Amino acid sequence: MTILIKNIKKLIQVEESPRKWVAGADMASLNTIDNAYLLIENGAIKDFGTMDNAPKAAGGVQIIDAKGKMVFPSFCDSHTHLVYAGSREIEYVDKIRGLSYEEIAKRGGGILNSAKLLHNTSEDELYKQSLQRVNEIISLGTGAVEIKSGYGLTVEDELKMLRVIRRLRETTPITIKSTFLGAHAVPAEYIGKQDEYVDLIINEMIPVVASEDLADYIDVFCDKGFFTVEQTERMLMAGIKYGLRGKIHANELAFSGGIQVGVKYGALSVDHLEFTGDDEIQALLNSDTMPTLLPGAAFFLGMEYPPARKMIEAGLPIALSSDYNPGSSPSGDMKFVMSLGCVIMRLVPEEAINATTINSAYAMGISNTHGSIARGKVANVFITKPISNYEFMPYAYTTNLIDTVILNGEVWK
Ligand code: NIG
Ligand code: FE
Repeated sequence: MTILIKNIKKLIQVEESPRKWVAGADMASLNTIDNAYLLIENGAIKDFGTMDNAPKAAGGVQIIDAKGKMVFPSFCDSHTHLVYAGSREIEYVDKIRGLSYEEIAKRGGGILNSAKLLHNTSEDELYKQSLQRVNEIISLGTGAVEIKSGYGLTVEDELKMLRVIRRLRETTPITIKSTFLGAHAVPAEYIGKQDEYVDLIINEMIPVVASEDLADYIDVFCDKGFFTVEQTERMLMAGIKYGLRGKIHANELAFSGGIQVGVKYGALSVDHLEFTGDDEIQALLNSDTMPTLLPGAAFFLGMEYPPARKMIEAGLPIALSSDYNPGSSPSGDMKFVMSLGCVIMRLVPEEAINATTINSAYAMGISNTHGSIARGKVANVFITKPISNYEFMPYAYTTNLIDTVILNGEVWK
């Protein structure tokens, strides 16, 4: 299957030679080609350039005329919890009425509420509900997504979630990475004996998850009221023994030490980071850990935003992701995440685009195959509707501007 997209007004995020990530002042620049073509062959990006060098289309080639439109690499959403059962709009109303996220969690709401709903939902039904969300984010331009477990909190239910993630990977064209998040919350029956739950994760959950090859990464919610640095350390060490690299929920609710422990154990990313000061920034500099910000969660919960500008000005890279989940961010719209990055965290559009493509690809371990328009990379791209500039994407913050989605070199819609 060969596709030639021609007359592209602007081809966005072009890479001539591979980059690990984009950091600091470089985040404000974006490589683009005006009046471009893009050639896709056998699921991969074969070539691109200006229209005057475009290949002549032979028979059997599908031609798409993108006059007035732009082509982006698909968004990479490196942090979601989109496998869940039911929804939690009643807690949303509680929040509006003034309860905090922590207060709702303490009353048995929050993550434990989702765990109860998930326990009472069959694997098939969970797959069906989650598939709907996967199709939704594909239509919104996402071409790769990381999905976490963590609403199971028992061996059996964590495996149920991870099997659903595997089935989504097998049955949909989007690229999926899977993360084991047994340490998302302490189940009710372990309250007061939290270390016993940590032992269960280490001695039972991690070995079986690894033996069934159900996860790529391990996550821990290292924060005030959830898991301590010491517990996080034990779980990360156990995960690493089984080949699971860390991706940590850190510093959302307090200066928890989560960033430092993530860096210490070589985590691929540390995520949330609302509480980031000079020590945390120092720890991240000279590390291989991607600071990942989730403005959708801070927006929905009405909480502090991470100091994105300060981080970039210190020379760090940042990634942006949706955190799609039923409690703190019931949306997987990466275009809206870009807008939040721009409007609230004062990113310029180039920084927001870098943060949702190449850097978020790094944060899920796929930047060598995704996150930019580069020869040989997987052909996951989208064509916009006619737009005046790429800045129009985050600017028109609720308008659906995605015209055509191409995944693995095939037109999805
Ligand atoms: O990333 N912070 C922890 N976990 C999720 C929230 C999950 C939930 O409330 O269901 C998050 O925001
Ligand atoms: Fe999360």
